Amino acid sequence: MLPPGPGLLAFIQAVRTRGFLDAVEQAWRTHGDVFRVGLGARTLTFAMHPDAVQQVNVTGRKRYDKRASYDGVRDFLIGEGIAASTGDLWLRQRRLMAPFFTHSGIRVYADLMLRDTQRLAERWEDLADAGEEVEIAAEMTRVTASIILKAMFSTEAMASIHRMKDAVEIMTAFVSQRMTGLRVPLWVPTATNRRYIAARDYAHGTIAALIEERRASDPAGWPDDLLSRLMNARDEETGEAMSEALLRDESITVFFAGHETTARTMTFAWYALAAHPEAAARLHAELDRELGDGPVTVDALRRLPYTLQVVKEVLRLHPPIPFYVRDAVADDEIGGFTIPSGSAVMLSPYCTHRHPEIWADPEAFDPDRWSPEREAQRHRFAYHPFAAGPRTCLGNNFSLLESHLMLAVLARRFAPRLREGFTPRWEMQGVLSLGEGLPMVIARRAPRSFH
Ligand code: HEM
Repeated sequence: MLPPGPGLLAFIQAVRTRGFLDAVEQAWRTHGDVFRVGLGARTLTFAMHPDAVQQVNVTGRKRYDKRASYDGVRDFLIGEGIAASTGDLWLRQRRLMAPFFTHSGIRVYADLMLRDTQRLAERWEDLADAGEEVEIAAEMTRVTASIILKAMFSTEAMASIHRMKDAVEIMTAFVSQRMTGLRVPLWVPTATNRRYIAARDYAHGTIAALIEERRASDPAGWPDDLLSRLMNARDEETGEAMSEALLRDESITVFFAGHETTARTMTFAWYALAAHPEAAARLHAELDRELGDGPVTVDALRRLPYTLQVVKEVLRLHPPIPFYVRDAVADDEIGGFTIPSGSAVMLSPYCTHRHPEIWADPEAFDPDRWSPEREAQRHRFAYHPFAAGPRTCLGNNFSLLESHLMLAVLARRFAPRLREGFTPRWEMQGVLSLGEGLPMVIARRAPRSFH
């Protein structure tokens, strides 16, 4: 039996009038945990229960892959990079790259995370003096882009960091636009196409030049960054190094996957803390008690569990990637409903994280949900901000370390305030977004003497 679902026109109408997030939530409430939306020749089945998350990502994963649904990302953004590749290529790359992202693999980047956050803290001191309003998302993206570019290429040149960030943002927006709107062939010289081509050529050219520069120098002197690690990686069986195209694709993948997501996590954290003073007070108390006048270090993070609970709760209530899709490559059944081969299944951290069977008072921001006891009692797949199973996010440790450090460094000194009377408008724009941004005033916490 096929799943129930809203008619296409009704669904499109709901998306137009109330936005994608609301339209999906309403269809979920009306039709239950498994529902389908026919999109012309293709069918999209939404599956919200943690059991479905487990089935698609783990137990039944052989029946799913990243096929047609990822064509846009493949063709216009990351080529054969690990987030879109499939089969043997994906497996080989995952094995090669996984060691770079383990807890010990990412520790080498903690210093640069701290350095860049410290620089932001200095900027915020000035902003706090000026009492000016800032767009907090831009503040966060600037830092996370700088961190990931330094981790990848050891580049300190801020101008090239900004240009690279802008180029990849243009490419990402182009892909999102093509997924939802008109698909004008690339050879047609529209303004959008030209902008995309210029951005792509800049990103590809910059990375090619970095690779060439490194190849021309003695490997013994290469910096310990992700590019060197990718260039030094050898296939276990053939001993082959990655081609230049693959090095480029993996670099763009890591940059694309690895900065906007963490920037959003941090942005949403500032919103949550400003809107929930009791959680902010607990966070501040932990930071003051555990850090005193001492520095934030990776080792100190172990003494800051509540800080991490805040990050986890932000990722529950406001997951930066609220939906991800898999293409069925064989017939399957989810929750008693047929999933035909060739159709797509949409999983949703946004909805699973609000599932009323799992989460008490799901809309409430409550970091205490992440006490070890409560976490241990929960369905293992009720929480999947980083997806789950073998294709789980490669950078989850990197991202959690970065957010934990940034929050500790910044929240011990600052308590950004929302613009008076501002209500955020949550939207789906490829990733979870705030339609009208998040204007905040950088305010210092009292007392001022903490560093
Ligand atoms: C809060 C931050 C982040 C979130 C919420 C997040 C979420 C996700 C999700 C949901 C996926 C699966 C996407 C899909 O299947 O279509 C994914 C994949 C991936 N992420 Fe992240 N991510 C974050 C940060 C990062 C960072 C910092 C990096 C790199 C440094 C990274 C690298 C990747 C890669 C390479 C994949 C593809 C893995 C594969 O297919 O084998 N992510 N991420």
